Amino acid sequence: MKIIVNGQEVEVSGQRVLLEELRRLGCDIPSLCYDSQSKHEASCMVCMVRNEDTDQMIPSCATYPTEGMRIDTESEDVLSLRRMGVELLLSDHKARCGTCEGKEKCKLRDLYVRMKAKWNRFGPLPSPEPVVQIHVQGHLYYEPAKCIRCGLCVYNTPNGFTFRNRGFKMQVVIPEENKKNVDEKIADLCPTGALFLRQLHTDK
Ligand code: SF4
Ligand code: SF4
Ligand code: FES
Repeated sequence: MKIIVNGQEVEVSGQRVLLEELRRLGCDIPSLCYDSQSKHEASCMVCMVRNEDTDQMIPSCATYPTEGMRIDTESEDVLSLRRMGVELLLSDHKARCGTCEGKEKCKLRDLYVRMKAKWNRFGPLPSPEPVVQIHVQGHLYYEPAKCIRCGLCVYNTPNGFTFRNRGFKMQVVIPEENKKNVDEKIADLCPTGALFLRQLHTDK
């Protein structure tokens, strides 16, 4: 099918979500909560694009293209909304990158730098929490203060990570008896340093 992206007519398959189609066309569409192989909740807002037909911002990771739709991926409004998604996450992020063991693979930090986002856009910089690192198994650790509750670890570890509470109070936890069900590779899927591998460790 044909769609219009930033004023140019292009051909897309229609079989993949817009995020995938747009990336295939070379558009820079960031994402935090999306993974092509798993369920996700479209919660982070960093993949937003504008549907110019309806003048609405839509999550490209949760929208399939339709014939003739017109999409804007690069106007200042779109970039600003994506930046706001990062800033909202940071407004509740009680950790600091300098000492973060997961910073090398952290997509949130990468976007924060690339987008020139403000950590304190919605109020004072949140005070860091005392560091709590939970040994899951092997080299895998979980640091709750760095979790953005994207849910990817929950959806990808049956009987592993789980949600506690709902809405604003939602947390991701790992019950002791579930730790054995978690594969270390889940650290690769986590978009922040909340799940990280420590090469040399002593259990805490
Ligand atoms: S998880 Fe990412 S954003 Fe958070 S402190 Fe670590 S590097 Fe920084
Ligand atoms: S631990 Fe990582 S993958 Fe799991 S919900 Fe938090 S940010 Fe997402
Ligand atoms: S990647 Fe689309 S809402 Fe998070």
